[in-house]
Amino acid sequence: MPTDREKRIIKSFQRVMHADHREIIQLIMELAKAESPAQAEDPLLALDGAFGAHFATEEARGGGFETLVTARPELRPNVDRLFDDHKWILAEVAALLELLEASVPAEEEEAFAARIKVFVARIVDHEVRESKLLRKLAHL
Ligand SMILES: [Fe+2]
Ligand SMILES: [Fe+2]
Repeated sequence: MPTDREKRIIKSFQRVMHADHREIIQLIMELAKAESPAQAEDPLLALDGAFGAHFATEEARGGGFETLVTARPELRPNVDRLFDDHKWILAEVAALLELLEASVPAEEEEAFAARIKVFVARIVDHEVRESKLLRKLAHL
C-alpha cells in the first residue's frame, strides 16, 4: 500500500504524464504525416524540446517510476529498458535534425522518410510499454 506521500507523487506524476503524452502523440502524428523532409522539421524541433523535460520527469529520483520499482522491484528491467530507449530517442532526434540542417538531397528523401517511419514506430512502441507501467502504478 503506498503511503500518503507516495500517493501524492503518483497523482501528480500521472497528471504530468497524461498532458506530456498527449502533446507527444500529437507531434508524432504530425511527424508521421510529413510528406517531405521540410515538413518534418517543425514537429521534430517541437519533439526535441518536449522530450528533454519529459524524460527528465520520467527518470527523476523520487518520481513516479522510481516509486513503482520500489513497490514492484520485478518491474525494474521494464523501467530500465524504457530509460535506455530515451537515450536512443534523443540521439535519433538530434541526428534527424542534423540531416535537415545540412538539407536532405532529393535522392535521399526516401531513405529519410523510411528513417522517420522507424522513429515513429519506436516511439509508439515505447509509449505503449510505458502506458502499461503507468497503469500498474495506478494500481499499487
Ligand atoms: Fe519514456
Ligand atoms: Fe513518456
